[in-house]
Amino acid sequence: MMSERDGYELFRLKRSYREGKNICQLLRKNGKNTEHAIEVSYDLQSGAYIAALEHNPERARQKAAYTADVAGVINSLCKPASVLEAGIGEATTLQGVIKHMDARVKMYGFDISWSRVAYAREWLRKKKVRHNVVLCTGSLLHIPCADNSVDVVYTSHSIEPNGGNEEPIIRELYRVTRKYLILLEPGYELAAADARKRMKLHGYCRGLKKICESLGYRVVIHRLFQSPPADPLNPTAITVIKKDAKQRSGNVLACPRLKTPLEEIGGALYSPKALTVYPILLGIPCLRVENGIIASAYPRIRTIRADKRKQGRRTSW
Ligand SMILES: C[S@@+](CC[C@H](N)C(=O)[O-])C[C@H]1O[C@@H](n2cnc3c(N)ncnc32)[C@H](O)[C@@H]1O
Repeated sequence: MMSERDGYELFRLKRSYREGKNICQLLRKNGKNTEHAIEVSYDLQSGAYIAALEHNPERARQKAAYTADVAGVINSLCKPASVLEAGIGEATTLQGVIKHMDARVKMYGFDISWSRVAYAREWLRKKKVRHNVVLCTGSLLHIPCADNSVDVVYTSHSIEPNGGNEEPIIRELYRVTRKYLILLEPGYELAAADARKRMKLHGYCRGLKKICESLGYRVVIHRLFQSPPADPLNPTAITVIKKDAKQRSGNVLACPRLKTPLEEIGGALYSPKALTVYPILLGIPCLRVENGIIASAYPRIRTIRADKRKQGRRTSW
């Protein structure tokens, strides 16, 4: 829960962001970016990725080439029925990937920042994306999806600022994956000395392949993604992990705490196992553990209120 002081702090940080300061750097503790620092810094820069694509043709061209390559990898691995981008930002990558996907593929995306998800939704609308895309907030450390629920899960520089949390994040991504997990993240081990120095300084992730192998996961591809890299100081590496999980039925979105099914009741998502309600804010399900309200009486009270309304009686609260 955010305190009054935190609220003031955010207001102050917004001013610092406008002055061009690096917010993650201001909030970094012992060389590590906390989830709070990541959420605040990315939320404050909401809209910046879209603006860069709209105002910089070279950036737009690079993005189009990158996303075509990402889709090429996905389509060469399998014919997915569902694809999730974890840490979707403003959907500037997802939107390019979708262009190359079969129209029947169901797409999912989540991000720690609500504002970025809201921008992502606007960007997909503006680009007239016709695919079925489900967006919500969520954390890489507590992914709001059921086990083995998505055929292909990919990340694009979202594990990047989470240096020190690589292992729990990879476990979560793997848990949700049914067929392939694709990590497009800074390739620390494959990078030149100056790039490594910068990655360390910013608290970026490292050692993803080694961690996957130590967990017993089957790494089938690991190499630099683009040659030459679009950003030599932050070259992208691709790591593909194969998983053979059984086909499952049921919804993809799940309670982030228990990974159990959610029910839509009264314009919110209720977890009967966790006795917790997750709000839907302006149409965006808020599925971070912190977003949950413990409300064991919610379905009962909701029924009483609905019954009263049917009878034309008003509730007093
Ligand atoms: C560098 S941006 C990349 C965005 C997008 N994947 C793309 O390719 O344009 C990193 C994104 O990951 C999100 N992110 C970072 N850490 C996260 C976490 N622990 N849980 C959920 N999202 C996270 C950030 O909020 C941000 O939107």
